[in-house]
Parts: sequence; structure tokens; C-alpha cells
Amino acid sequence: MRGSRRFEILAKREINRETFIQPWPEEGLIGMESPLDPTPSLRLQDGVVVEMDGKARHEFDIIDSFIVEHALDLSRAEESMAMDSLELARMIVDIAVPRQRVIEVFAGLTPAKIVEAVSHLNAVEMMMGVQKLRARRTPANQAHVTNLRENPVLLAADAAEAALRGFAEEETTVAVSRFAPLNALALLVGSQTGRGGVLTQCAVEEALNLKLGMLGLTTYSETLSVYGTESTFADGDDSPWSKAFLAAAYASRGIKVRFTSGTGAEVLMGNAEGKSMLYLETRCLMCIRGAGVQGTQNGSISCIALPMAVPGGSRTVWAENLIAMLLDLEVASGNDALSSHSQIRKSAKLMGQFLPGTDFICSGYSSIPREDNLFGGGNFDAEDYDDYLVLQRDFQVNGGMVPVSEEEVIEVRRKAGRAMQALFRALGFPPITDEEVEAAAYAHGSRDMPERDRVADMEAAQRILDESITGVEVAKILHREGFRDVAERILEIQKQRVSGDYLQTSAIFDENFRVLSAINDPNDYRGPGTGYRLSGELWQRICALPQARDPREMGQLRPFRPLRWTLRERGEARVGNRPEEVVIGVGPAFGTTLGATINNLPHDEVLKALIEGLEEEGGRARVVRIRETSDCAFIGHRAAQLSGSGIGIGLQSKGTVVIHQKDLPPLNNLELLPQANLLTLEHYRAIGRNAARYTRGEKAEPVRTAIDNTARLKHIIQTTLMHLMETREVLPEAPPVELEVDFHPPR
Ligand code: 5AD
Ligand code: CA
Repeated sequence: MRGSRRFEILAKREINRETFIQPWPEEGLIGMESPLDPTPSLRLQDGVVVEMDGKARHEFDIIDSFIVEHALDLSRAEESMAMDSLELARMIVDIAVPRQRVIEVFAGLTPAKIVEAVSHLNAVEMMMGVQKLRARRTPANQAHVTNLRENPVLLAADAAEAALRGFAEEETTVAVSRFAPLNALALLVGSQTGRGGVLTQCAVEEALNLKLGMLGLTTYSETLSVYGTESTFADGDDSPWSKAFLAAAYASRGIKVRFTSGTGAEVLMGNAEGKSMLYLETRCLMCIRGAGVQGTQNGSISCIALPMAVPGGSRTVWAENLIAMLLDLEVASGNDALSSHSQIRKSAKLMGQFLPGTDFICSGYSSIPREDNLFGGGNFDAEDYDDYLVLQRDFQVNGGMVPVSEEEVIEVRRKAGRAMQALFRALGFPPITDEEVEAAAYAHGSRDMPERDRVADMEAAQRILDESITGVEVAKILHREGFRDVAERILEIQKQRVSGDYLQTSAIFDENFRVLSAINDPNDYRGPGTGYRLSGELWQRICALPQARDPREMGQLRPFRPLRWTLRERGEARVGNRPEEVVIGVGPAFGTTLGATINNLPHDEVLKALIEGLEEEGGRARVVRIRETSDCAFIGHRAAQLSGSGIGIGLQSKGTVVIHQKDLPPLNNLELLPQANLLTLEHYRAIGRNAARYTRGEKAEPVRTAIDNTARLKHIIQTTLMHLMETREVLPEAPPVELEVDFHPPR
């Protein structure tokens, strides 16, 4: 078959690098609303659940058992299960029903019933639900901080920058697991250099993970995975009980815990047991609830490409975030692993969490170049910082990031590097040179760093474990070495672990170590005028991007060089009578307040080119200044009315040019070159030539220019400002004046 050129081009688009599949419900390759998902049911006998979601008690697997024992609020179940699922869905979006009421009702629902209720919602209604139901009022964001070479100086510098940029949590991991203690240390020092109170974790194998927390090198942990089928748990040698036990171990040492779950994990491991991704995820979330853990990292996480491959994938992911919130869990809502090759698709998916706000919009925004991301690539990377900041400004949304200046970033990165240098020296770790500190201050990624002796660093990492170097020890050294503020913050972290306030649901710290959680900052959304609103100082900060300019200080308000002419006004312009005459009408600011076109052509040269073109073709120019209007068409038409030939040229100060004829209606014309940013002197000369031809009634080939479809986008501000300047010079009642122009010889 002959291929269509258009289809050939479409096939090469980023979006077509993805794999899309039709649903396969029997294997669990379906997002939600699978025909094989169970029908909701709950039967109790003498206070004991004898049937749930169509399954009799003797058929329960470990997840069913855990849910009925620990997650399902049996005191509410009867009332809640009796409600129509459509009514439940409406409670989610109804601003008259407070969050607390919805949470209470949903505590008495089985997994299938929750899924049925949420399935009534379309994507926008899910966003409405998220806006109302997330636990913490103030949204936040989490960063990933890693690098390919596990360079501790770079890690600390990147952690410091991410903290400065506003992330409330920072997560690192390892390429080689023996580096873990050093990575945790670098993240701790770096983060607290950037801003006090950033929570950190190092995602590694559980026993080591717990150890790092107990040493006070990390403050949270979210690597506790739960799954929606028993077979998946069994493969990992785990159960909801073992996970709950581990969670308790963390919490008992003042370490914030969040579980990880997410659509797609079970089918990816071949254990979906014929159920939809969302149904299985709902079972996970109920296990998390039942384990008494405050929150989850969900939104498919590492499996994101799977739900995104089936119909309704993004809607499914939004639904799983929402269900976690309905269960009163803190939610770090995904957007960490790469979800699409397409920028359009990635951004569209982000909106489901970004616009309504979640506890952590990204459960790991890659604060580093993609090549340095050891989590398998970020959905958004350091290169996307400015895009993200602009989105916040566009929608007046707090996505957990603030603009920063280049100077402060370099400064804080350098300070983190220096702190690491001092710490390493004091601990007798492999030296960090001044050169490394400076490289880290200015670096983008690990390519910008000198090599280190990785074996020696690995030995240092081992010493942290062997010698049980704690957070308190780190604080003491930094204090001694002159990094008092960093030391105090690290010590404060240790104190907070003891007081444990930040173990409350959805807790983060502000820069003064004040806890913000579902307890003291509860989401109170009740419709317009309530809930979190980005306003005040933070909104001003987000508006004030370093790239945002003051329009008062922009624009070509003055000629960029003295114009080489003498321009004299010679009284009111009269109507001419010579048949070869072309009147060139210039705008009110031409050559005075404005001195060059938007394409930076000096006004003297532009006028000269027009006159030369006219004269080449035997025309004769007369120059007048139109003062009554700044509109190009009307300038040109007025010029034509004054012209002996009836042909006039209208020239706006920003360079837009028109050839007019006095008998034409003002908004018609003979030729118009609107994209002044593309015009060269040769174009103006050609316009002059054509105008002369028209005086003789000749036909002429219209002057051709390139078309730049991005011109509007690129130049609209400059165009607006120049037009503003010209319009300010308009004198509505003033007649045109004759101009006498003497061009000075070129120097
Ligand atoms: N379900 C459960 N655990 C997940 N993880 C990532 N995605 C999921 C998911 N969908 C876990 C990984 C790893 C960490 C990044 O989170 O197993 O421990
Ligand atoms: Ca994470």
C-alpha cells in the first residue's frame, strides 16, 4: 500500500514511541472497570465478616483477611455499604459534604464498593475530589537526588539546591548499595544547608534502610511496598503483617513512614489474578490503612507505563490517588518515573495532581539531569525546572517549588560542598579538594565533576556503619568546623525524631521546623473561597521569575544610535498634485520617541531605503508625519489622500509598512508587510519601487517576505510596547505635517 506522507510523519512523533495495547481483563491488563472485578458485598454474622466482595470467609486470602481485621471499620460498614455507589460518588464532589464526612463513610466500604463509587467520576470530578480530599491543606513536592558516580560532593550540592528550590522531601538511592550510608549523609548535610527541615531518605534494602534511619542520617522511609494479590506478596516473602511490623519499627524510632503501592505492580509480576489494576490497588491502600501507616506513595510509581498503555490509563492513576485520599492517607502522587516520551502527554497527566494539589505532587521530581537519575529516569528533570515554575505562575498553583536566582544557587551549592569537605576532613574520609567544591558549585551533572576514588569512598561509607556515625555526631563536627547553622538544623532534626510530631499524617516541616500536617494544617476545602489558595508573599515570589521583566524598562524607547539625519517639521501638509508623487506617511513616534523598527533597523535607513526604491522607479517622495493615528492602515490611507498620485506608503515606527491608494477603503490596501520583525532594508526598497509602479497604473509583483509562524509568540510583547509608545504620541486633532529630511552622508 502506498503510505500517506502525513501518517509517516505521525509515526515519527514521540507519542508513537509508546506501546499501546487493548485491554486484556483475564490477565489484569485493564485499568479499571473490568468485567471480571468483583461485585461489592459485605455480610456479617455476629460481628464477623463472613463474605466480602462476593468471596466467602473460607476463601479469603491474606489481603482479604488483613482488610477485614484491620482496615474495614465494621461499626460503619452496614450504613456505608447500604448507600448507593452513585450517591457515594456525589459526596466526593459535593462541596456541601465536608471532607471529614466523606472519610467516615468511606471507612466502612469494601474495596469493590470503593472502586464502584470512584468509577462514576470523570477525570475532572476526580480532580475535584483530590482538591477536597487530600489530607494536608498546603501542597508540597518531593525531589530525587542521585548521580551516576555517587559523588558525595555533587549529591550534597544538588540536595542543597533542591532544598532552596522548595522541595519538602528529598530522596536518594544507590547504584552500588555499599554507598548508601555516604549518600544518606550527603543528602542530610546538603538538604539542611539549603533549608532547615527538609526530610530525607535513602531508598535501599530494608534492614540497611532502617539502620540509616536509626543513626539519624535519614528521616523518612517510603520503600515499603504492598501488593494487591497474595501471590505477589508471597513472591517477595512478605505479607501485610510483616510490612506493618516493619512500619512500626520505623515509627518507633521517629522515622516517618509511607508505603509504596500503585497500579500495575501485580500484573507486571504476573500475579494480577484476573483483576483490574485499580481494584488491586484499592486492596493495597486498604492494607496500608490497616497497617496504621500515615500515607502512601502511589500513582503507579515505577509501573506507570503499564496503566498508561491501556485505555483510561491516566484516569485510572488519578483514581488511585483519590482513593488513597478517601482512605485518609497522605499521598505522594507519582509523577516520578518517566511516564511518556511525549511532553504533551506527560504534562497533561501531571495536571491531575498539579491543579488540585496533592501532599507531594511528585513522589520524586528529578532534581538532576536525567542521565544522573538512578531511579530510572525522571518524569520531569532539572532541565524542566523553568517549565514547572511557569506552570505554577500560569495557573496560580503552588506545586511546591519556588524560583531561585543563579547567584543563590551557586552560593548554597558551594556551602554544601564546603560543609562536606570539612566533615570528610574531620572524619578522616578521603579528602574533598577545593577544586571539587568549586566544580559542584557550578555543575549541572556528574559530567561536570572531577573523578573521585570510588573505592576509598566506599570504605568511608562502610566506616559510617562500623563506627555508628550518627546525625548527632555529624552536627557536632559541623558545629566545630564553623557550619553552625547547618549543624543546628541537623541537631534539630534529631530532636524532632524524639518528639515525633512529624509522624502525624502528611507532616512536613517549614523552614523553622514548624510541622505542617493534617492535624494543624487540615485540608478545609469547601468550595470557592475555602481551602488552600496560593496568595500573598508566596504568590508574589512565584510571579517574580528571574526571567520576568518589567515592561516599563523594556522596548526600543530610544534610538540605539544617533540617527544620521536632520528632520524638520515644515507646517501642515497639503494635498499634492504631481502624478509621480508618493507620500510616505510616518507614525507619530517615528524618529523621535522611537528610533528603530522591531527588527532593529534605524529609522533613517528605513526611510532612505523607501525613498531610494521610489526614485529607482521614477517616483518622487514626499514625507509627512501622521499625528492623528498610530494605526498602520490609517497612516497609509491618510498619506495616500495627500499624495498627488493617490498612492501613499504608511510606515509605523515598529516597521510595519503598507502601500495604500486613496480610493480604497482604509482597511483595504495594495500591499501590506505585517511581520516587521522579518523586514530588511531590501524589503523597504522593494516597497518603494512597487509604490512608484502603482502611480503609473502598472501591475507589480507584491513584495514577498518569509513567513514566521512564531513571530507573534516571540515579538508580541515588544510589538505591544512599541505600539504603546507610538500611540502615546498620537494627537487626535492634529493635521499631518510636512517633514524635511536631510540624510547625513555615511561616516
Ligand atoms: N507498587 C508497589 N511498589 C512499587 N515500587 C515502585 N512502584 C511500585 C508499585 N506500583 C517500589 C519499588 C521500589 C520503590 C521505588 O518503590 O519496589 O522499592
Ligand atoms: Ca519517592
